[in-house]
Amino acid sequence: MEKRRLGNGPLVGSIGFGCMGMSEFYGATDDEQSLATLEHAFASGVTFFDTADIYGFGHNESLLGRFLRGKRDELVIATKAGIVRSKEDPALRGVDNSAAYLAQHCDASLARLGTDRVDLYYLHRIDPATPLEDSIAALAKLKTAGKIRGIGLSNVKLETIRAAHRIHPITAVQNEFSLFTRNDQSTLIPALRDMGIAYVPYSPLGRGMLTGALAAQALPADDFRRNLPRFADEAMSRNARLVAALQEIAGERGVTPAQVALAWVLGQGPHVIPIPGTKRIRFLDENLAAADVALTGAEIIKLQQIFDPDAVQGEPYPDMSFLR
Ligand SMILES: NC(=O)c1ccc[n+]([C@@H]2O[C@H](COP(=O)([O-])OP(=O)(O)OC[C@H]3O[C@@H](n4cnc5c(N)ncnc54)[C@H](OP(=O)(O)O)[C@@H]3O)[C@@H](O)[C@H]2O)c1
Repeated sequence: MEKRRLGNGPLVGSIGFGCMGMSEFYGATDDEQSLATLEHAFASGVTFFDTADIYGFGHNESLLGRFLRGKRDELVIATKAGIVRSKEDPALRGVDNSAAYLAQHCDASLARLGTDRVDLYYLHRIDPATPLEDSIAALAKLKTAGKIRGIGLSNVKLETIRAAHRIHPITAVQNEFSLFTRNDQSTLIPALRDMGIAYVPYSPLGRGMLTGALAAQALPADDFRRNLPRFADEAMSRNARLVAALQEIAGERGVTPAQVALAWVLGQGPHVIPIPGTKRIRFLDENLAAADVALTGAEIIKLQQIFDPDAVQGEPYPDMSFLR
């Protein structure tokens, strides 16, 4: 697989791996199946794995910890802290970026991952109650201590990235980005390239919708996507029309909609490293083959017309005020 530079950090395969769904949010999980998929990813050239302390309340980091035993030095591991959750109230989302919180949660993540350092440590969301200077200084201290190798920001706007980057070099930014969510396309992504910061699109398959495989399925009752405006019945059926047009383009090329969606994301710049998620080897193989799909200029124009931001129904989250 082609390699891309993770900001001021190491080279990684151009398509990374999002591990979240292996623990929570997208229906039933199976650890043995997930571990087999992770091993298959590694054997296929994937080196960049993404998790967070909150995914499955630590389960996701522990699972990744099992996988990385014996191959830690060959992998680039990113995790995140800053979202406060409660097992008693799984819908609750607090935010804490205080120095004490980050120091404590970094140690807990390292223990679950069974490693002495992570390569990239993101603020999962920005805490309005903690000065950014204090949070970045706390992360810089973890870096000096050798516990983290690079600092990342997630769910952020350009002005926050610029402010943080002035305090300490930022390695990567992780925001939602796909044909469905193009907010960062024209300004933020080019700016990061100029700043030498990697852009890591999360949910690059639109949480599965862009694969065309969800339309015919009823999501399980506990599937997190049922809470998202984009997956509400009416929005879903209108968005399905856009996905049908994507399927047509993919069909003409003899590839799959997921591959076209990922190829479009990969085409946004050499500093863009998407992290599609799946629990299944079959989907993984399909997604990795997207690295070999080069879209034509005409196809790109057509896709961007189909996925005009005004044509996409429903916001990514019910309340987007966490973006800072
Ligand atoms: N920073 C943040 O706030 C944030 C938020 C969300 C996600 N993330 C990160 O981004 C990663 C990826 O995002 P995501 O998992 O939300 O969304 P995604 O990659 O856009 O989509 C994942 C969904 O698509 C399905 N899928 C994947 N490949 C497929 C294929 N080829 N054909 C059919 N279905 C396919 C998966 O099914 P199966 O699960 O059944 O295999 C899963 O339901 C996460 O794992 C997480 O690490 C970060």
